Order: sequence, then C-alpha cells, then structure tokens
Amino acid sequence: MRIIQANDYEHMSELAANYLIDKVQTNPAIVLGLATGGTPLGTYKRLIKDYEQNGTSYKKVTTYNLDEYVGFSPENPNSYHAFMYDNLFEKIDIPPTNIHLPSGTALDLVEECKGYEERIEEAGGIDVQLLGMGSNGHIGFNEPGTSFQATTHIVELAQSTREANARFFDDIKEVPYQAITMGIATIMKSKEILLLVSGESKNDAMKKLMEGEVDESFPASVLNKHSHVTIIADKEALSGVNVR
Ligand code: PGA
Repeated sequence: MRIIQANDYEHMSELAANYLIDKVQTNPAIVLGLATGGTPLGTYKRLIKDYEQNGTSYKKVTTYNLDEYVGFSPENPNSYHAFMYDNLFEKIDIPPTNIHLPSGTALDLVEECKGYEERIEEAGGIDVQLLGMGSNGHIGFNEPGTSFQATTHIVELAQSTREANARFFDDIKEVPYQAITMGIATIMKSKEILLLVSGESKNDAMKKLMEGEVDESFPASVLNKHSHVTIIADKEALSGVNVR
C-alpha cells in the first residue's frame, strides 16, 4: 500500500481530487466506485470546482456507489442517492443513466444484491474505488466480522456506525438498522483502490490497518492483500503510525 501524507483534511481532499481528475482525464470512460460520508465531501467539492473551471467531463464516466440504507428511496434526503446527487452528480455533467447505487427499496433485496454485482461485472469492473474507513475499520458498510468472501449483501449496522452517522439525521432513532453494501470481495475486485483517512478519530483504525493482522474482525485490513492501494491520510490520522 502506498501512503501519501497530507497536512490536514483540506490537503487530503486536494490530493485526492487531483488523483481522481488525472484518472478521469487519462481515461474519460473510467468506471469509478464512489463513497458517501464526511471524508470524501471535500474531494467532491474540488471535483465540482475543477469541472466548472477546467471542464473535466464526466459524460462517459460510469459510477457505482458502495452502499445505501435499506428502506430509503432516492427521494429521502438522508438516502445516499440524495447525498451523491446533492454533493456531486447534480453539479457535474455525468448522465443519470451512468450513475448506479444499490436500491434500498427494491422489493426483492436479495435479487437487488445479485443484480448490482452483475451490473458492475457488465461494466467491466471498477477501475478506481474510492473508500473511507469507519473508526471500527468498516469499508462500505462491511462491519467487523463480515466475511472477506462476501459480495453485495444486506447488513445490520453496528451501533457505533449508527451513532457516527446520526450527525446527518435529526434524531438517532431515524438512522436505519440495515443497509445494502458492496461486499469485501466486490471491493477487492476493483483494479485500484483509493482510501482516504482523516482526523484523530481514525488514528486507532489507521494503526490497526498498518500494523495489525489481516483479519475479518477489522475489515479494512483486507486492503493489505490488494496489489494497488493508495492511501491519502492526514497527519492526525497518521500520528504515531508505523508506516511500513
Ligand atoms: P466518514 O465515514 O467519512 O463519515 O468518517 C467513513 C465510513 O464510515 O466509511
């Protein structure tokens, strides 16, 4: 894993945006895997700014998001569909038909998981998957204990994840208990992975990722087995981390 050290969140976001812009300019028909959460927001802001100022086009780009809350339709302002449209898709020239998120309201969720996996395959797989990491090591909504073999599936959210995400809701009671997420195996099939990590709250997770065992109890540890991972992390996240 290649580690790029950033000074702070803004610097991390700038480096990540430049990284992705370069990928899109090199391959305008790239398949991107995208993430929600606080971590990629600054990156998305910079992609939008670059689109406005330099005209980097997303007309041929295809995207697959990691996850969605079960029971939330795209119209729900707390859905990940809404998050992605509000914070990126509405503000660049990507055609809606090129945008993919798992449906949290599919009548048959098992079929939806299977179909999502197939749609990624049909697109030729994900070229670059952008990831954040939970403080418990989750990637996507793959909580500790998830099998490394899992493909897209339904998960029960860890209480710590519900608590962390409650900041986006009026009340923690509104945070769903279940989500649909790409599995670890889906993520590991991506040709390249870009992991962003920022802040003191991720420092312990960063230590486990770099120094700990590869184990299902810490999902992000699987990234140690991928041949093309770039981590952009800020100083707070990296403090005291033994970068090997
Ligand atoms: P965050 O979430 O970016 O909001 O910290 C990361 C994650 O839970 O994957």
